[in-house]
Amino acid sequence: MSKAQKKEAKRAAHTERRRLKRKQDNKNKRLARQEARKNILSGMTRQERQEYINNEREQEAQEKERLEQRLADNLEHGNLHICIALDFMDDMSPREKNSLARQIQWVWNDIVRKPELKIKLDLAPFAAGCPFEEDCRRFGFVHWKMNYRPQSFHEEYPMERVVVLSPDAETALTQADLQDDRTVFVIGGIVDKTVKRNMTKDLADQLQACCRRLPIKELAMSMNPILNINTVAEILADVKFNGATINDAIVRAIPPRKVNLPDRQSRKLRRAGEEHSPESSSNPLISSNSFSDSSSEESEVPVDVDAPVDVDASAGVDVPVVDGQ
Ligand SMILES: C[S@@+](CC[C@H](N)C(=O)[O-])C[C@H]1O[C@@H](n2cnc3c(N)ncnc32)[C@H](O)[C@@H]1O
Repeated sequence: MSKAQKKEAKRAAHTERRRLKRKQDNKNKRLARQEARKNILSGMTRQERQEYINNEREQEAQEKERLEQRLADNLEHGNLHICIALDFMDDMSPREKNSLARQIQWVWNDIVRKPELKIKLDLAPFAAGCPFEEDCRRFGFVHWKMNYRPQSFHEEYPMERVVVLSPDAETALTQADLQDDRTVFVIGGIVDKTVKRNMTKDLADQLQACCRRLPIKELAMSMNPILNINTVAEILADVKFNGATINDAIVRAIPPRKVNLPDRQSRKLRRAGEEHSPESSSNPLISSNSFSDSSSEESEVPVDVDAPVDVDASAGVDVPVVDGQ
């Protein structure tokens, strides 16, 4: 293991410890709040209790309305514009489409529905009542607040504002690429059980659009450079709203079990991550319960065709298989 890999493992272990502590702290705070409320209510008359509860409900309703207003503003004026391109439906099996719907649900749940992250999320092309809507319904589609665009991204936005993200792009995304709020980052709405290379890159080339990859191979970590849609969106949000560098955002977004760090420390880290959530991220933007929501979705729909996994015998770490790598 190189010095850089050791340093990276140490940093990842530290970040994971902090994430677990944050989760425990949040739980303790929630329990303390519940206890305090119970004490307040127990010292009240029946009528006082009823007034207190009514007041609580009113405040909750107002808070909900404010939240919905902020989300609606974000969808219109958000300063990180992401489009999930649904141009590849014919290339996916029913199971892959199901998995795509689940990843979109993660994008909604983990980042878009947090009003402090001013994200404008579009699905394009997406027509009401289209077959893919059925897949999305299994993952809470009725609650999603996104823009549904009738046409493909290349018909919806001026091409000079578009950056197509592709793991096969020649040029890496830089911090500067995220400066302009008018840029539309296009993420391929693709889940490919057997990796089909160049799908998004070929489309970008055809359209003569700007095409960028995340600078994963520049990092001193051995990992699959092909990420899920939600992970890519999470990285963009971390850079844009949390001031992270792209490299830090990548490291924070990748579940430890997907990084091939073959030493005792990384195995410990991986075990800790698996105990607490199947896809734990140390990105501070992502709440500790967001992944458990996702995993409960998983148990409802027993289909998972995210990156196929092979076991790297030398490391004892699950490493997704990448064609030709
Ligand atoms: C599971 S990947 C699908 C990869 C697919 N074979 C392709 O050619 O795009 C889903 C989408 O996430 C984005 N993505 C995944 N990894 C990426 C990376 N390393 N750099 C840039 N974008 C990436 C791309 O937009 C990609 O289309």
